[in-house]
Order: sequence, then structure tokens, then C-alpha cells
Amino acid sequence: MNAPLIRLQINGCTVEARAGTSVAAAIAQHSLIFRRSTTGQPRAAFCGMGVCFECRVAIDGIGQRRACMVPVREGMQVSCDD
Ligand code: FES
Repeated sequence: MNAPLIRLQINGCTVEARAGTSVAAAIAQHSLIFRRSTTGQPRAAFCGMGVCFECRVAIDGIGQRRACMVPVREGMQVSCDD
């Protein structure tokens, strides 16, 4: 049995992810870049368990959230420009 689909917005684009999926996984599933380093290099989730902070995003206007630690929620607004 599949988990229900959740709709959220990532960088202004509406995407779908299964309930229980982390925000980091939803971003990766849609091939979106988390943010860029100070030298402009694309960054992505690394540890997937809340340790490295490479997956920082803003969620519903609150910055510095670790995307790998937050499950998707209907209507969630995610910005990778945090
Ligand atoms: S991927 Fe390392 S803290 Fe999220």
C-alpha cells in the first residue's frame, strides 16, 4: 500500500511526495539544488541524519531548517535559498 501523496511547494514549484518522505528526499526526487556554496558550487544533503547541516532550507518562512529531519506536509512552502 502506498502512502498518500502530499503536495508542497519547493522554490515556488508545486511538487508531490509520499507522506513520510523527508523534505530533503522530496528535493532530491525533483532534482532541485538545495543552495550554493560561497564559491557558487551546488550543495546537497550529505548525511541524511541531521549532522552535517548541508541541507539547510527555509520552511514556511523559518530559515536554517534541516530538510533531512522534516517530513513533508500538505501545503508546506520550502525555499532552498536560505
Ligand atoms: S543532510 Fe546532513 S543535516 Fe541534513
